[in-house]
Amino acid sequence: MKILITGGAGFIGSHLTDELLSLGHCVTVIDNLSTGSEDNIAQHLTNEKFAFIKEDIIDEDSKIESLIANADMVYHLAAAVGVELVVNDPVHTLLTNVSGTEKVLQAAAKNNTRIIVASTSEVYGKSTKETFSETDDLLIGSPYNSRWSYACSKLLDEFFVMAFHQANDLDGCVVRFFNTVGPRQTGRYGMVLPRFVKAALSNENLLVYGTGEQTRCFCHVADTVQALRTLLERDDTAGKIYNIGNTEKISINQLAQKVIAQANSSSSIEKIPYEKAYNKGFEDMLHRAPNISTITNDTNWKPVRNLEKIINDVIDFINK
Ligand SMILES: NC(=O)c1ccc[n+]([C@@H]2O[C@H](COP(=O)([O-])OP(=O)(O)OC[C@H]3O[C@@H](n4cnc5c(N)ncnc54)[C@H](O)[C@@H]3O)[C@@H](O)[C@H]2O)c1
Repeated sequence: MKILITGGAGFIGSHLTDELLSLGHCVTVIDNLSTGSEDNIAQHLTNEKFAFIKEDIIDEDSKIESLIANADMVYHLAAAVGVELVVNDPVHTLLTNVSGTEKVLQAAAKNNTRIIVASTSEVYGKSTKETFSETDDLLIGSPYNSRWSYACSKLLDEFFVMAFHQANDLDGCVVRFFNTVGPRQTGRYGMVLPRFVKAALSNENLLVYGTGEQTRCFCHVADTVQALRTLLERDDTAGKIYNIGNTEKISINQLAQKVIAQANSSSSIEKIPYEKAYNKGFEDMLHRAPNISTITNDTNWKPVRNLEKIINDVIDFINK
């Protein structure tokens, strides 16, 4: 198949590129390299089945529409990502995630191109449930708190997918990622695991925001990529939403301890109040675990890599 990946030079997109090329597909990546890197895809630049276009999807003269018209399938991953980036630049977040996705979906609907759109567990917002299902009601915070602009922009993307599916019969679905981690993820924008591993390897304090009692589930990027691949092989995903993540929960304090132990580090854990780490009034969720029964029932997909393997792979990558 001819597959277009927006944001394909990023963390998840570049692993997906590796996988799809290894399966014999032709892959085109469009990416403005804002948070992605050419290093992530450098290994494919001489492959005749691969093309890289360095471009912003929201540029007026972007080739995005013709690329979508020529593709059999699109993975739309390009987005402003990461809590720190989003809090510091909420206008950019909204423009990229809303206008960019709208443009991509218009083109997919017009050309009958199948599409998978990346969303996030952030859309579950401040809900106090421990485990989240795709049909749950969502509780997003006030617009006075820019932290919620990322969740809100991604939620609007989801409504766009549903609307185009309803109105234009768009063959599109949504994937809600829950903390995907692994090699190539950068800690620059506040992602917790690469930040912890970097600190542990240089014997610096691991900065835990808040009490550290909040729990999260971490999914190896190789598992996430397998989920995306299995969805490609189905023809009954249109108009659906899929949670993708690992169901094994861990508190951020325990995560920090595990990283220190696996990195053989002499680092300590330092607690930083949210107001210091982000802005005053920053809100976080206590727990966030996925119910993955929708994707497991439809595709048999389940994550198979545990946290120990994830941490070791991130240590090996950062040590390289
Ligand atoms: N990693 C996670 O845990 C996670 C969790 C929830 C959702 N997601 C979603 O998954 C997708 C991929 O995330 P990731 O973790 O690989 O992050 P990433 O930052 O590595 O990937 C995003 C890519 O999009 C590119 N990009 C951003 N704006 C663009 C634009 N206007 N035009 C062209 N390219 C642009 C970036 O340069 C980058 O390569 C995103 O949509 C993100 O919101 C990721």
